[in-house]
Order: sequence, then C-alpha cells, then structure tokens
Amino acid sequence: MPEIPVAPEPPAPAAPDRSAVRALLRLWPYVRPVRRRLFTAAFVAVVASCLSLVIPLVLKWLVDGPVADRDPGGVWLGALYLLLLGITEAVLFGFRRWLVARPLAGVEARMRADLYGRLQRLPIAFHDRWASGQLLSRGTTDLMLVRMFLAFPLTFLLVNGVTILAGYVLLLAQDWSLGLVLLTPVIPLVIVCSVFEGRYGAVARRAQDQVGDLTTVVEESVLGIRIVKGFGRHRSQALAFRDLASTLRGTELAKARLLAMIWAVITVVPELAIGAALVLGTVQVADGDLSAGTLVAFLSTAMALRWPVESIGFLLAMSQEAATATERYFEVMDADEEPDAPARTATTTDGPGGVRFEGVSFRYPDAPRDAPPVLDGIDLHIRPGETLALVGGTGSGKTTLTALVPRLHEASAGRILLDGEDIALMERDRLRSLVSMAFEEPTLFSASVGENVLMGAGDEAGEPELRRALGVAQADGFVDRLPDGTGTQVGEQGLSLSGGQRQRLALARAVVGRPRFLILDDPLSALDVHTEARVEAALREVLRETTALVVAHRPSTVMLADRVALLSRGRIAAVGTHQELLRTSEEYAWLMSGEDKGTEDR
Ligand SMILES: Nc1ncnc2c1ncn2[C@@H]1O[C@H](COP(=O)(O)OP(=O)(O)OP(=O)(O)O)[C@@H](O)[C@H]1O
Ligand SMILES: [Mg+2]
Repeated sequence: MPEIPVAPEPPAPAAPDRSAVRALLRLWPYVRPVRRRLFTAAFVAVVASCLSLVIPLVLKWLVDGPVADRDPGGVWLGALYLLLLGITEAVLFGFRRWLVARPLAGVEARMRADLYGRLQRLPIAFHDRWASGQLLSRGTTDLMLVRMFLAFPLTFLLVNGVTILAGYVLLLAQDWSLGLVLLTPVIPLVIVCSVFEGRYGAVARRAQDQVGDLTTVVEESVLGIRIVKGFGRHRSQALAFRDLASTLRGTELAKARLLAMIWAVITVVPELAIGAALVLGTVQVADGDLSAGTLVAFLSTAMALRWPVESIGFLLAMSQEAATATERYFEVMDADEEPDAPARTATTTDGPGGVRFEGVSFRYPDAPRDAPPVLDGIDLHIRPGETLALVGGTGSGKTTLTALVPRLHEASAGRILLDGEDIALMERDRLRSLVSMAFEEPTLFSASVGENVLMGAGDEAGEPELRRALGVAQADGFVDRLPDGTGTQVGEQGLSLSGGQRQRLALARAVVGRPRFLILDDPLSALDVHTEARVEAALREVLRETTALVVAHRPSTVMLADRVALLSRGRIAAVGTHQELLRTSEEYAWLMSGEDKGTEDR
C-alpha cells in the first residue's frame, strides 16, 4: 500500500527581500480601530518605565544628603519615596495590561474571522494546492504570535528604547566620561542584533512551516484513522510523525541557540562596561573628583537600564516570529479569490434553454504542462427538463465536467450556458442557487441530520421540504430510527453513518431545494439493489421537474436518464439513448456490460 504522504511541500518560500517591519506594517488596518488604547498603553508604560530611572536620583539625594548628614528622619523619608515610586510603577504597568488585553483579543478574533471568511471564498484550485494543516496553523499559532507581538514586543521595543535613551541622557548628565564608557557597547550590540534578526527570521519561518506540516500529518491520520488501523500502519505513521517532530525540534533548538547567543552577548557586554565604569568611578571618588552619591546614582541608573537592554534580544525574537506569522497569514489573504462579480459584464441570453456546453476545455492548473487537457472541446446540450446520463471510464473527466457547471473550477476555454445565459456572466451566488449537486464522496458536517440536509435549500425551507427530500432519497426510514430522528447529530464527516446512509443524505441535500439544475455524481453507488430501485423510483419524480446531469457507472443508473453521453479521451464520443449507444458504440457497450476485456483503461 502506498505511504500516506507525510511531508507536504511548504507552499511558498520566504521572500528573499523580506523585511520584518514591512510585514508587520500590514497589521495596521487591524490595529487601527484600537490604536488609541494601544498608544495610551504605550504612553503609560513609558511613564512607568521612566519612573524607575527616578529611583537612582532619590538614592543620590539619600546618600549625599541624609546618609552623609546621619539624619535618620531623612533616611525614612527617602525610603518612603522609594516605596511610593515602586508602587506607582507596578500600578501603571498593571493598568497598561488592562488597557491592551481586551482590544488585542478583538484584533486576533477579527483577523481569524477574516481568514476563515477568506478560506470559504478561495477557489477549489487553491484548496487543492494547500495542505489543510498549513491553513490550520495559520489560523491558530500564527495569529497567537501576532497578538502576543501587539501586546508585548511592540510596546516594549518603544518603551525600552525611550527608557534607554532617557537613561543615557541621565548617565551623561551625571558624569559624561563614565557615561561614554557605557556607550561603547552600543556599536557591537547593534551589529550583533541586526545579524541575529536576519538569521532568526529565517529559522522562525522554517519552524512555523514545520508546525503546519506537523498539523497536516496529525489531521490526516486522525481523519484516516480507520485506514491507519486497518492496514496496521500506526507504527509507520508514528515513525513519520516522529521524523517531522524531531525536525521541528531541531529547528526549535536552532532558534534556542540563536537566542542563547544573543542573550549572552547582550548580557555580558554591558556587564563588562558597567564593571569598567565601576573601577573608573571608584578611582574618581577616591581622588575626590566625584561624590559618592553620584557614583551610586550612576551605577544604579546603569543597573536600571540592564533589563531594558537585555530584553531587546527576545523582544526582537518575538517580533521576528510575529513578522513571519504575519507573512504566512497574508499569503493566504493575498491569494486570488473567486471574483464575486461576473467574469465579464454584459448579460446576454441566446440559444435554447437547458444546459449547453460549447467547446469547453479544461486542464487542472497544477497538471504537467505536456499532459493533454482533461476536457478538450466538449459540445453537449441537455434540453430543458431532460435528464442526461454521463458515462465514461474511470478518470475520464466526468467529475471534472460536472464541477465546471457551478464554477467550482473555471473552464479554460469555451462557455457553458444555463437557459441561454453564460455562467461566466452570472453572479456566483445566483448560479449556485440554480445548480445543486450531490458529490461523489458524500461529505456531511458535524451537525444534525436535518441541518445537513437543509444546507441544500434556502432559509425558508423547513420540515415539509426536509421530509420530502428524505423521502426521495429513501432516507426517512433509517433517519426515523436514529435516536433523535432528524435532530440526531452526525459525527465529524458523518462517520457515524454507513456509506449508503451518508450517500442518501447527500442526495436528499441535493434535491431539498428543488433546484432548477441538478447534478448527481454517481449518486447511488453505495446502495444495495433494492434500496437503489426504491430511490430511483422516487428520484424519477424529482428529475421530471428539473434539468439534470447524472454521472452513471451502471445500467441501472443510466435508466434514470432520457439520453446518455459518452465521455472518452476528453471529448463527447457519442450521444443517444441507452439502446442506441449499446448498438453503435463499442466502448459504451463494453462499459455497460461489465465484461472484462483485459484492459481497464481504454
Ligand atoms: N484536483 C486535481 N488536480 C489535478 N488533476 C486532477 C484533479 N482532479 C482530478 N484530476 C485528474 O483529472 C482526470 C479526471 O478526473 P475525474 O475525477 O474528472 O474523473 P472521473 O471521470 O470522475 O473518474 P471516476 O469515474 O473515477 O470518478 C484524472 O486523470 C485525474 O487524475
Ligand atoms: Mg468522478
């Protein structure tokens, strides 16, 4: 059995000219509505942080004043000032947190809602290309990183920058020569930080893509758990998972190494500078060039700056991660949507009614260039009210052809007319309200049976429509035997139902809205002959009222149709009644006979 694919390609490599700032600026539209709160919060944080710089000044006053004068009252007063400053700082930081928490949760929710909406509108071709785990991780981990960036690094890069600047001004004002000693580490630190930023950005991108791959594997093996267990593949799946997880672990370790490196440099270098300043300052105090209080103030200012400087390393790291997360988010948001408006503008009505394919060709966007198109110049007319069966070997393009009618894929050439109206000129919503489908794989959602079926109708449809549709699909019997009837919840993807039950619910969903055009892709394949006969009898009534295209593999399904079209090598090879085609088309006769001529693909 083939390996379950485990390592989907990352959909897009990081752009070479990536700029974290440019990526993060794209968040502005989402941040704009909460900008006032964010700015207020940043301002509060700047004030709080600068308060910590006042503490050394109080210390200087304490040392040079009350301590030198041996005045206990003054010392107590100084201690009280220090306590008040500390409390105010803490309260202000708490206030800042309160200011940002709620609006930022709102930003995250809005971005997530937009992403979800986007995913609904992106064309099928996009979803064919993208692994679901990549989309899932963008909607979860990446958005969380963005919110954390807005809450923390965004503010604190500013706050710490301002604090460091103000601190240096204070240092230089207290003693410019000692201040210059502390300025020397700035140049190497800036260089190290910029090197770090670039490297960390690349590793962060790799890690986030790998999280997406890992999510895909988990999702796939959970959805395919029956196959994994049935074929005893749990060991190989676990191995595949372990491989991916250990790759991710390697990447995370690379991140940790980079972070450790920058952390070491950022802590050690200023520490050395402070040590040098301490030696120089002590010499100056001993020589009487400097007051002890000034040295204390100077050193405690330098100490107060240690946290703002040290934190820059991981603030930059978090910003890089947020920038890659933002890039990944907008990769999805920038993908071309299905245009809501018609592809062309003028509305024309010409030709007879029904469904008309005129020279329709189609190739999948990701098919190899030299491969022949799946559909190559299809001309076909389904008369109004008629039911046409579409027959063809497996892989001949039947499903592809049906997907073109509701424009799940866009025809590469030619046009399709519904009652004389070119579908490329129709609003998508209107087109899809006219056309209803039952797909080859009956997909159900985790909702009640009734909700699943009524999905196929407008909001006004209710119980009577539901009963009728269940009746047509011969599903009323088993649905009524379910614990809560139509209110019974079906599990994820409807896996709590049998294949035939799912197929009948999907059929009910297709017919519940009494669509003008009905497309059924092999709708009865999973039913036993007796149920199939009963469904067919009921379906005949429905087909009488609509224009229908029914993909059929078996003579019994073909019997539902007025005429049959044979699809072969991307073209309509023959059209006629079942009897006519049996007589005139050897391929048709072969497909319908079930005889084995030794070749599967003709
Ligand atoms: N999303 C896709 N991307 C690329 N190629 C595709 C895609 N879907 C189908 N194909 C290819 O297009 C061809 C026609 O597929 P299609 O599903 O239309 O066949 P079909 O006639 O419905 O077959 P079956 O009777 O087995 O359902 C196949 O060769 C298939 O490999
Ligand atoms: Mg098919």
